[in-house]
Amino acid sequence: MKYYYTIKEIIKKKKKIINKKVRIKGWVKYFRNNLFLEINDGSTIKNLQVVLKKKNKEKINIGITIEVLGKLIFKSNNKDIEIIPLYIKIFGKIDINFFNNSILQNKYHSLSKLRKQSYLRFRTKIFSSIIRVRHNLSILIHNFFCNKNFFYINTPIINNYDTEGAGNMFNVTTLNIKEKYKNYKKDFFGCKANLTVSGQLEAESAMLGLCRIYTFGPVFRADNSNTNKHLSEFWMVESEVMFFKLNKIIKLSEKLIKFLIKKILINCIEELNFLNNYNNNKLINLLNNIINNKFIKISYNKVIKLLNNYKKNIIKWGDDIGSIYEEILFKKIFNNNIPLIIYNYPKIIKPFYMKINKNNITTKSFDILLPYIGEIIGGSERENSYKKLFLRLKELKMNIKNISWYLNIRKLGTIYHSGFGLGFDRLVQFITGMKNIRDVIPFPRYPKNI
Ligand code: 4AD
Ligand code: MG
Repeated sequence: MKYYYTIKEIIKKKKKIINKKVRIKGWVKYFRNNLFLEINDGSTIKNLQVVLKKKNKEKINIGITIEVLGKLIFKSNNKDIEIIPLYIKIFGKIDINFFNNSILQNKYHSLSKLRKQSYLRFRTKIFSSIIRVRHNLSILIHNFFCNKNFFYINTPIINNYDTEGAGNMFNVTTLNIKEKYKNYKKDFFGCKANLTVSGQLEAESAMLGLCRIYTFGPVFRADNSNTNKHLSEFWMVESEVMFFKLNKIIKLSEKLIKFLIKKILINCIEELNFLNNYNNNKLINLLNNIINNKFIKISYNKVIKLLNNYKKNIIKWGDDIGSIYEEILFKKIFNNNIPLIIYNYPKIIKPFYMKINKNNITTKSFDILLPYIGEIIGGSERENSYKKLFLRLKELKMNIKNISWYLNIRKLGTIYHSGFGLGFDRLVQFITGMKNIRDVIPFPRYPKNI
């Protein structure tokens, strides 16, 4: 006989194991009238009630870790279950003073307060729900690509160039402050090194031998962006596909977003119902809208025209479509519930590797924007000609030496190909309806916070 179950398993198998002995281990979430205990073990959003017959000898406090062996029975409604204990063991006691100042106390705590004790957030209903959604989404990403015969590639976290050319990198050095910046030859790698901003260049080289690949890992950006959608350390999914032109990679991206939302609405419906409630009952409707509508596709040029029609001279051709414009697009011009695909951005605001259109001013690029959070995916066809890429790097005055290997790919039978990068934390933020990206990653890193 198996005694130890997770609460999730017990709820699932309740009909089979009713009136039998079960053993659970978890934390006391509520304790009412000295008789009713609610236990949670993190396996599910739901608690399981344990009904004491008489006062327990040992002192029970909210927050302690406990083991209960008992009989599983139906409550009087013949549907919900509870445990009548035969035996209770208290494992982890609590320091009551410390507990009373912590976010584990059963009262309202703001999300910013939870963030201040991020190492305890896992025990709260909201954060453990978000983490279960996050976990499920990670698995679904692997499922999506695996089903389509893509291979998962791990790209390095430390490298020595700036993929995006935006200059926002963290240095990696073992030199002390005095030695720093003087002689990198003496440094650990014998050269200047940095934390990667993207695994794309390595991903493209992997694609050359495996055809369809994806990465899923942390990337680092030293932007001083104190917004609700930027992290200094975030997780990105990047994919590169041989023989794909712009339209095909756009379609793949749209499919990925729809697949993830569709499946998460099944896998994590309890968490999403709870988060829906937290979000004025608007979240699930929004998610259903995303899967049931074709994304709106529109060129950069048209977007600039529409924005300027909305308000004269609000934006110039060549400007990036930042958050304020994204908001106008969703709230005033298009539909607040349908994602936007914007394509053919000017080359002056996009990285060196994007294929440039015949007009020599726009690129074969696209971004996907989601309502409320904005850019979720960025991608493009990649420049495939060695000569064009070389000249573009020169034009941008970028360091060619450290990415000569990347240029060499173009000399070895490569052909047209495309790729994209999806901001994983932003996706979790969108799907959970959280206002701040710092609330969807266990230990957020952002300026002045580590
Ligand atoms: O648009 P980005 O910078 O594109 C790249 O890095 C390309 N190499 C991707 C590729 O084509 N392989 O970043 C991709 C996505 C953005 O669309 C956004 O969702 C997310 O990453 N992102 C961030 N998420 C959280 N915090 C930040 N600071 C982010 N910067 C970008
Ligand atoms: Mg981008």
